[in-house]
Amino acid sequence: MGAESFDRELISNEEIADLNITEHMNIAITGHVDHGKSTILGRLLVDTDSLPIGKLEQVKETCQRNSKPFEYAFLLDSLKDEQSQGITIDSCRIFFKTAKRKYIIIDNPGHIEFLKNMVTGASRAEAALLVIDAAEGIKENTKRHSYLLSMLGIKQMAVLINKMDLVDYSQDVFNAIVQELCEFLEQFEQRPTIFIPVSGLNGDNIVKRSPHLSWYKGKTVLEQLDDFVIDKPPEDKPFRMPVQDVYKFTKHGDNRRIIAGMVESGTITVGERVVFYPSSKSSVVKSIEGFNAVPLTTVGPGWALGFTTEEQIYVKRGECAGLANEQHPIVGTRILAHIFWLGKAPLKKEKSYLLKIGTKKVKMSLAEIRFNMDASNLDHNTKNQVDRNEVAEVVLELDQPIAFDLPHEITQTSRFVIVDDFEITGGGIIVNAIANQVPLIEDQINRRITQWERSSIDIQQRFEKYGQKSVMLLMIGDDFSKKNIAKMVERQLFADGKFVYYLGIDTDGNKFETDTNISSISNDETRIQQLAEMASFLLDAGLILIATASGLTPEHLEILKIALSPEKIRTIWVGSERDTDIDVDMQFTSNDDIDEFVHKIEQLVITV
Ligand code: GTP
Ligand code: MG
Repeated sequence: MGAESFDRELISNEEIADLNITEHMNIAITGHVDHGKSTILGRLLVDTDSLPIGKLEQVKETCQRNSKPFEYAFLLDSLKDEQSQGITIDSCRIFFKTAKRKYIIIDNPGHIEFLKNMVTGASRAEAALLVIDAAEGIKENTKRHSYLLSMLGIKQMAVLINKMDLVDYSQDVFNAIVQELCEFLEQFEQRPTIFIPVSGLNGDNIVKRSPHLSWYKGKTVLEQLDDFVIDKPPEDKPFRMPVQDVYKFTKHGDNRRIIAGMVESGTITVGERVVFYPSSKSSVVKSIEGFNAVPLTTVGPGWALGFTTEEQIYVKRGECAGLANEQHPIVGTRILAHIFWLGKAPLKKEKSYLLKIGTKKVKMSLAEIRFNMDASNLDHNTKNQVDRNEVAEVVLELDQPIAFDLPHEITQTSRFVIVDDFEITGGGIIVNAIANQVPLIEDQINRRITQWERSSIDIQQRFEKYGQKSVMLLMIGDDFSKKNIAKMVERQLFADGKFVYYLGIDTDGNKFETDTNISSISNDETRIQQLAEMASFLLDAGLILIATASGLTPEHLEILKIALSPEKIRTIWVGSERDTDIDVDMQFTSNDDIDEFVHKIEQLVITV
């Protein structure tokens, strides 16, 4: 296996190995422009002896030569320059270590325009440092950033009240800022871990205690860093691995497929049954293909992982792997989310966007705004759109189901970004699922998968033998001739040597929607679930299944997609008037030629 194929979006083997040797922690540093983030970081590097030898002297010398006063912030600039080789980078990672652990500090530039980096960059942080200039006090971005941190679920936050030298190290100034920020954050039930008075310039309370701040008895910045609790994606949480890629071997009769990704939480062991969400496909882990020379049998969080399965299953990038005997992720198409909007154009209802969670991208639209506020003053407003730099609680509707968790359970799989026109225009966290019927059917399928003995002939072998891919042709529409057409298509495909089966699910002539039975809704669901169950067997057997249904809603189709996976379903609208929100793959009207139509379907079943 070429190692290069795994490198995409993943860190290198050496890096992984290195990071796994000792504890490491990601910290985001934020604050208003010029409040002193870079100075504090520069100080931290100098006072912990983390700089490359001669770096400090070199920067001081350059300053002298250009007759400008030395700034600790220049140290970071010079490191950034070296790292990026002249390319401007807008978010910088700084590495240093203490006796306790390694740190990666993500320095986010303070300007509003760069909040984007916060949404993406800080989303990996386990703790944060929020810097406030004691002389200037709390600013717009202080509030924005602190709110954003709490929204992203970053619970550990040290507030560094900096430039204490400019306010004569006054305890009153310090206390006033502490009080103001606490009042602000209380609205979101957020409590900073600690407030530390510091001077980045003089190095007070960064690594060394300060005689100027004798009234402060708490920890220094460095002590606090080491005291942050690491939120290692814990091993004891359910296993989650968003599928990054599936690698297929073709040489020397090797037909293994390696399913690869980064483990976000939990552990996986050879012999365990994995389930992929949202498709609910499942198999047993046969081997774990680590990147080390020694093959591994168990892999935990933070590892790039590849594994093979006992049976050939066809999963794609974007699915999320879990274990059959652990808590499942939630699967749904409607989510309640807290978002932060960065786009120049507002987030609007009429428009379609992309939502990216883990490795999955789906189309999404805004269904509802529950509340909406300006992130700087947190004034509520009742607009019908979310403007730039606003925070909102929204309901998002997705065109395909996604698998996710709630932030208090597994943070990593609850975060997402929104992409509009190839740019990240927003980010957020899923706070709840809006009920849909997906979990029920998913449970049924899982039970079937885990309890029933399955055939050893896989779908690929059937395809090769029959010369057809199994697909469900779902004929919808209110044209009464639909069933006749379906049967004609069946006969013709049959005559052409295809393995085909017709099933009408509204045999009594009742349309789903006009059924007057009191329990009509549950009847509809039951019927769709029955169809889904039956169809999954028939498709598994390699058949082309033709089904007719009236009054099919997008939710019904969703259930079918979950049960059978979207690529196995083709919707065909029979009739000329199309009055459905369902995306239709084909249409057949009374003017169309049936032979031509069947020909199109035949093309489809060999290329699906
Ligand atoms: P951006 O990256 O532009 O957002 O700024 P920043 O937050 O990184 O601030 P930076 O560290 O560049 O500091 C801004 C200015 O404040 C510089 O001129 C620093 O020398 C000064 N400064 C930083 N910390 C202190 C301090 O503790 N005391 C005093 N007096 N000045 C400070
Ligand atoms: Mg800076």
